[in-house]
Amino acid sequence: MALDNLIDGRAIATQIQRELTARVAELKTKGIVPGLAFVRVGEDPASKVYVGRKEKACAELGIVSETHVLPEATSEADLLALLARLNAAGHLHGILVQAPLPKQIRESVIYSSVLPEKDVDGFHPVNVGKLMLGDETGFKPCTPAGVVELLIRSGVKTSGAEVVILGRGNIVGKPMAAMLCQKGGRANSTVTICHSATKDIKAHCRRADIIVAAIGVAEFVKADMVKPGAIIMDVGVNRVPDATAKSGTKLVGDVAFAEVQPIAGRITPNPGGVGPMTIAMLLQNTVRAAEAKL
Ligand code: GUN
Repeated sequence: MALDNLIDGRAIATQIQRELTARVAELKTKGIVPGLAFVRVGEDPASKVYVGRKEKACAELGIVSETHVLPEATSEADLLALLARLNAAGHLHGILVQAPLPKQIRESVIYSSVLPEKDVDGFHPVNVGKLMLGDETGFKPCTPAGVVELLIRSGVKTSGAEVVILGRGNIVGKPMAAMLCQKGGRANSTVTICHSATKDIKAHCRRADIIVAAIGVAEFVKADMVKPGAIIMDVGVNRVPDATAKSGTKLVGDVAFAEVQPIAGRITPNPGGVGPMTIAMLLQNTVRAAEAKL
């Protein structure tokens, strides 16, 4: 019998995009067309795919996007010069610089140089600070914001829940913890972050009501690490060899899905779980940035 414990990220993202359509239409009656700039440096294959998906989602919603592609050898100064132009452009309400960036470019310098009010990625220190403070006027990073939205729209009780986050990165792990420990109806969880120096990750995972896996290791979360009934949110995107695939590789998450699904209360498929929500949250942040101009 097929299990029906999936959290359908595609369906929930579609629902959010439908809600945003009305807001974009309202903006257009006031003469505002939301505008978003993508910046991609180099030819990282995954970044190409991600930016392509985001461009398509913008076009479907009526957000006008433009993509700036710079060579791998671009200097930090040249990227900063481009950002200064995009910051000053009146038709652009959001700017997204796709990570990872080449080694000669410091991500912290770049993310500090996007105007906070155009920082729809939520990576500028002002927005990171607002997230920590529980100040809802800031922009929140899209992937962890998407995880929270999935939990809420799936009716998962986060208040008082023991949440274990695997991974302490700036894009997912750390902001995820900040969101879920906030006081209030959308969070109120007890949060543990596990990382490479954690002594007994399995023991932490086994007492979790909710696991958010963002550790970047293919199929890291195994069945014996999961408490029966736990909620499993799989953020991972890992390319692994697959002799049966035409390309010779396939994408898998940070969760060993086939063995964990029967034990989990609810679980995100991967793909089709958190990924579509990252895009939905980017669209939402961009619409909000445009609405601030009303
Ligand atoms: N690379 C992986 N995830 C993200 C994201 O959310 N934003 C940007 N800019 N780059 C990423």
